[in-house]
Amino acid sequence: MKNKPIGVFDSGIGGLTVVKEIQNTLPNENIIYLGDTARVPYGSRGTEIITEFAIELTQFLLKKDVKFLVVACNTISAICLEKIQEISPVPVIGVIKPAAKQIVDTTKNQRIAVIGTRATIDSSIYEKEIHSINPKIEVISRACPLFVSISEEGLGSSDIARLTAEYYLKDLNTIDTLHLGCTHYPLLKEVIHNVVGRDIKIIDSAAPTAKELKKCLEENNLLNEGSQASSTYLFTDLPNRLITTSNLFLGKDIINSIHKVNLS
Ligand code: DGL
Repeated sequence: MKNKPIGVFDSGIGGLTVVKEIQNTLPNENIIYLGDTARVPYGSRGTEIITEFAIELTQFLLKKDVKFLVVACNTISAICLEKIQEISPVPVIGVIKPAAKQIVDTTKNQRIAVIGTRATIDSSIYEKEIHSINPKIEVISRACPLFVSISEEGLGSSDIARLTAEYYLKDLNTIDTLHLGCTHYPLLKEVIHNVVGRDIKIIDSAAPTAKELKKCLEENNLLNEGSQASSTYLFTDLPNRLITTSNLFLGKDIINSIHKVNLS
């Protein structure tokens, strides 16, 4: 059981920012990553279709005999984590609860902002999770949909990124913590930091999720004790730019471990 892979999935390539952190935190774990590049983005879709797609991804990974599932997508975690947990015989974590705890632990002035896709922001899930820990925290939530295409185009450090960040975020002047509630946004972190102010703490879902995964594997006695870890990256479509963009998100070349899969 312990040397079975961990299934990690996302609507596309954004979840690779979470994989990167999992590989740093748990270097002995085998990972199967599944990104639904044929149907991304999910963030502008409705609840029903996001749930339907997410269940297909879950069932596909369960057939790969994974020991644990990580929903490395804020949008899917926001809309249907509980449904996924209901159908999965193996433990499942999402990215929102671990991030909410990190946000609460980070803020000193109790004023924070969360940015994400429209579906994540419309769900109000971050407010709910944060307020379940500390109801006094003031939460500003804002959808920043253009950040997804800017990061996928490799323009995360460009003037376009700066202007877009100014458009979305320049009035956030009372907060002390900003959470990047979408797995694509870490690629714009520096630009966002310059726009909101260097004194504001910026966090994202990757590190708290990897930490939570480690804790859950330890608690369930599932940590892999072998040392020959490998990662496989499965996508439902392989557009030409995928190799370049996945390198940007993961920080390394995965050309030899990428495969196209059919979900049905
Ligand atoms: N990966 C998704 C998230 O973290 C964003 C991309 C999408 O809209 O599908 O919310």
